[in-house]
Amino acid sequence: MLPLTLIYLLQQILGGNAQQSSFQLPLNNLSNFTGTTLPNPAVLSIPSSQSSNFTITVALCSSSPQIPRFILSNDTSITQPSQPDLDTPNVFEVSLNNGYGNWTGLMPNGGFMSVLNAGQTPFEVGVSDGGPMHEIMDSYPFLGDTTSNQALLFSPAFGEASTSNPTYPNYTLPAANLSFPQGPSSPPNFTLIIVPTSSSSLASVPRTACAMSSVRAADVLHEGPAESEGLWLKDQAGWRWQWLVNGLTPATNYTVYAMQDNSKVSSPINFVTKSASFDCPIVHSLPFCPSISYAVPIQGPSLPASAHDTTTLPEEFYSPLLEVLTNFTVSLTTFPCGRDMYSPIVGCADCQQAYRRWLCAIWFPRCSEAAPDSGDSTQKPLSALQAQAPSATPRSPSLPPFPSGYNALLPCLETCTAVDRACPISLGFKCPIPRFTAKASYGVGYIDTGEEGDEGGGLTGTAQDRWGNVWCNLG
Ligand SMILES: *[C@@H]1O[C@H](CO)[C@@H](O)[C@H](O)[C@H]1NC(C)=O
Ligand SMILES: *[C@@H]1O[C@H](CO)[C@@H](O)[C@H](O)[C@H]1NC(C)=O
Ligand SMILES: *[C@@H]1O[C@H](CO)[C@@H](O)[C@H](O)[C@H]1NC(C)=O
Ligand SMILES: *[C@@H]1O[C@H](CO)[C@@H](O)[C@H](O)[C@H]1NC(C)=O
Ligand SMILES: *[C@@H]1O[C@H](CO)[C@@H](O)[C@H](O)[C@H]1NC(C)=O
Ligand SMILES: *[C@@H]1O[C@H](CO)[C@@H](O)[C@H](O)[C@H]1NC(C)=O
Ligand SMILES: *[C@@H]1O[C@H](CO)[C@@H](O)[C@H](O)[C@H]1NC(C)=O
Ligand SMILES: *[C@@H]1O[C@H](CO)[C@@H](O)[C@H](O)[C@H]1NC(C)=O
Ligand SMILES: *[C@@H]1O[C@H](CO)[C@@H](O)[C@H](O)[C@H]1NC(C)=O
Ligand SMILES: *[C@@H]1O[C@H](CO)[C@@H](O)[C@H](O)[C@H]1NC(C)=O
Repeated sequence: MLPLTLIYLLQQILGGNAQQSSFQLPLNNLSNFTGTTLPNPAVLSIPSSQSSNFTITVALCSSSPQIPRFILSNDTSITQPSQPDLDTPNVFEVSLNNGYGNWTGLMPNGGFMSVLNAGQTPFEVGVSDGGPMHEIMDSYPFLGDTTSNQALLFSPAFGEASTSNPTYPNYTLPAANLSFPQGPSSPPNFTLIIVPTSSSSLASVPRTACAMSSVRAADVLHEGPAESEGLWLKDQAGWRWQWLVNGLTPATNYTVYAMQDNSKVSSPINFVTKSASFDCPIVHSLPFCPSISYAVPIQGPSLPASAHDTTTLPEEFYSPLLEVLTNFTVSLTTFPCGRDMYSPIVGCADCQQAYRRWLCAIWFPRCSEAAPDSGDSTQKPLSALQAQAPSATPRSPSLPPFPSGYNALLPCLETCTAVDRACPISLGFKCPIPRFTAKASYGVGYIDTGEEGDEGGGLTGTAQDRWGNVWCNLG
């Protein structure tokens, strides 16, 4: 076998002679072109690989009446593949669909790609040995919550949450005042594109990252890593980027896309901002309650902060929570964790985690409001809202009364049953029984049916959906 570098060199010489002016596409790095920056003739040469499949993707970077065509050959004797060659073996058309095109196959000797009808339409090409560089991902951004003019948003999850499970005899559980784990060292970059759903600014633009990121319209927000609040491990789904977006319009439906490394685009979600009178601030980025990312009935932070985190949230609001959690952890470790198994699938660490999530969801009530009547005839289930009178006795022992009335979005009963399922029976943790008392303090029947012991089969199957509906507070 020739060393790879030598093969490469040979190809440079051989290929280079045949195709003096062709541009060598780099591997695993995007290149962009328009008709004027393409070489003449408009042929791009593709590197070779003896061992792996290449995925070649193209993405159009603007809408245009003139759609380029891409014809590819992995036979090095066909140096300028064109339309008539499509009948021959080893010549393929990379056809476009909504601005995207892809081809996967072998390039043992490299190859060539002709661009026909290029015009002035900008486009990108990516040659990769690690899957497509351009694609619409089947992941979604995630909505934390909204106020009248803000949204707390997350990228799709990417890095696994590293779980170092403690083991017997040194079964040490995380402290109540959790020290936040270190995030992944080279996370993918994400940028959010946020646009009012009714806007036409993106209407004619292909759903490619290069096309969407080049739209500069007053109603299209671009939120990159620099605008973010950094990485956050909200739950076991994994790490996400987190953004607190200000300056939105009340009672408005927005569409959000997340772009990964400026080349891949997520599927979109919707969210709806609250009405102008909504006055609960968002609370987020609490290491001891990592799942709290929603509006809470407390006074807002002083300016310039526009939402609460540990730097603005009064300590007396959460120090008793840490005490409860510490005491719970002490009781939990009276069980011989890691030695005696109370379940084949869960252990004490899972129990503590589920309890923390439940306690935080109970401790910090969530404000919401009824969805405006959309006027469509399809009956939507109603969210688990419970009206709270102005200055009513707070639902939470350490929060002061909230002077204005609000609608509490009740925790999903599943947040409680998760604790029941993850903890040793000897702890005596009990959730209210769905058929009797649960509805007074929980959203029942959304995810699970609400029949005791049943999992799944609920009304909505989820606590919140991608259209911006939020049914109960999962915490
Ligand atoms: C990708 O291309 C850009 C511009 O051509 C270059 O600056 C960068 O170093 C390349 N990255 C890699 C990983 O080769
Ligand atoms: C296109 O590529 C050139 C050089 O590789 C780079 O300088 C330029 O920023 C790229 N343009 C876009 C829109 O990505
Ligand atoms: C290339 O892809 C084909 C089709 O997906 C697959 O059957 C083949 O095993 C892959 N070859 C390599 C070397 O990865
Ligand atoms: C590749 O192209 C085919 C045909 O257009 C399409 O069905 C498929 O979804 C594309 N794959 C990706 C990853 O974009
Ligand atoms: C070109 O790619 C196709 C699809 O991967 C493969 O079947 C064929 O053998 C390749 N041709 C050459 C000359 O490598
Ligand atoms: C027990 O585990 C904790 C955390 O993993 C560690 O800090 C501690 O040193 C360990 N103690 C012993 C006696 O191994
Ligand atoms: C919790 O931990 C943080 C940093 O680790 C510390 O600054 C804070 O004082 C602790 N809070 C309590 C109530 O122990
Ligand atoms: C993300 O963006 C930063 C700054 O723009 C850059 O230094 C870094 O290389 C990017 N990371 C990736 C994986 O593209
Ligand atoms: C936690 O436990 C200590 C010691 O048993 C007790 O004094 C304290 O009241 C408990 N705190 C809570 C909030 O239960
Ligand atoms: C937001 O708009 C989309 C698209 O019109 C719609 O499907 C969705 O139901 C709306 N969301 C809410 C919560 O009304």
